[in-house]
Amino acid sequence: MQQKKKGLCAAFINPTPNGSVDFLGEAYLLWNHQGVIEYFSSEKPSEEKIRQYEIAVHKDKIAIPGLIDLHTHLPQYEFAAQGSVALLPWLQKYTFPQEARFLDASCAQTQSKNFFRHCLLNGTTTVVAYLSSFLEAAQIAFEEASRTKIRAYLGLTLMDRGVPKEIQTTAVDAQKNMLSLIDTYHKKNGCEFVVTPRFALSCTDALLTLCGEVSHAYKLFLQTHISENTAEVEETLRLFPQCKSYTDVYNVTGCLHERTLLGHGIHLEAKERQLIREKKSAVIHCPTSNNFLGSGIFSYDTLHKEKTRIGLGTDVAGGYSLSMLNEAKQSIEMAKLRAHFDNCSTDLNASHALYQATLGNAAILSRENELGSFSIGKFADIALIDDSKCDPMFGAPPNFYSSLPERLNRILYRSHPDMVASTFIAGEIVFER
Ligand code: GUN
Ligand code: FE
Repeated sequence: MQQKKKGLCAAFINPTPNGSVDFLGEAYLLWNHQGVIEYFSSEKPSEEKIRQYEIAVHKDKIAIPGLIDLHTHLPQYEFAAQGSVALLPWLQKYTFPQEARFLDASCAQTQSKNFFRHCLLNGTTTVVAYLSSFLEAAQIAFEEASRTKIRAYLGLTLMDRGVPKEIQTTAVDAQKNMLSLIDTYHKKNGCEFVVTPRFALSCTDALLTLCGEVSHAYKLFLQTHISENTAEVEETLRLFPQCKSYTDVYNVTGCLHERTLLGHGIHLEAKERQLIREKKSAVIHCPTSNNFLGSGIFSYDTLHKEKTRIGLGTDVAGGYSLSMLNEAKQSIEMAKLRAHFDNCSTDLNASHALYQATLGNAAILSRENELGSFSIGKFADIALIDDSKCDPMFGAPPNFYSSLPERLNRILYRSHPDMVASTFIAGEIVFER
């Protein structure tokens, strides 16, 4: 006899395309053998339907869509929370030496395994990450991502100047290595290859141009950093005197297009943001990192109102946590701070921040029809939250403030490392506490 299909009965917080969320006190989510949702409703399915599914019942827990992290660095996870200094000295003193360690395959193996496991235990089901600069370490990371079943967009970090020799490449090697990784791993086992010039300061014009060409030729995402720190901006303009702005450096080299993910963008000028909108690129906001490295306060509401596409990422280890719930919280806190200095108010609240970390980020990857919320035809990617772990009353006696919006507030503001009870990708449990 064929195995039964699977399902879940729990409370649900479900993001909606208008940038908010629906709250369902008790609902049923049922999916087929491929992990595609067949039923989602607060109405109990018919007895005949229920018989076809094995339904896990967790009425005390809250299911949210699997979280999506759009900007982080796999080789930096080990030194998370170390070295809270400004970007450029931080890169030289901590980051480059740490990434150089990935020449050792056993280091790459241990760290990749640990990194993806920690994504899953934070409820992250899709991650976009920079890898180190070494081909073998990148192969190991792709293999490990496939084993853990996480949806992973991964890029070999490319640099051909301004960084220690051991982590530099050349345009010729970069092309060879990218083509090899694309051939072996791109669009296989839930993985995609991302073209990854680190940032303008560590890339020559020739390397950036190659990155633009490869990302167009293979229709790949391209990730890089932009306008994160004022010293970085000044140095970039000095290195590229022929360019009108930092954004222009990426534009003239063909790196600015609808699959470009630009980390940070704190200090972008209005004209640069207009160019980014014209090219349909996205700015990936990383508030925890911006705070930790003292990079500045992102103008969330300005970019949101202008309709510049915004994503959200943890930027470990500029950020110190792989939790997208922490990141969502931090985005609200920083938007309030920005609004305070700009003498206005912010539109960002808990519902929108959760939307951003799920459906909003799915849309940046053009996967809003597959990922980021619960509806028929999408994948059952789920983070099942035991919010008693973040409840001041620890669930007993019941907290007086226990409406679902109040529980969402606690999940975001009091997020606890143990509160992700299990993580599902395409209906399969990939992490369970
Ligand atoms: N700019 C260039 N490289 C990096 C990096 O690794 N992290 C951050 N936050 N910014 C960068
Ligand atoms: Fe980064």
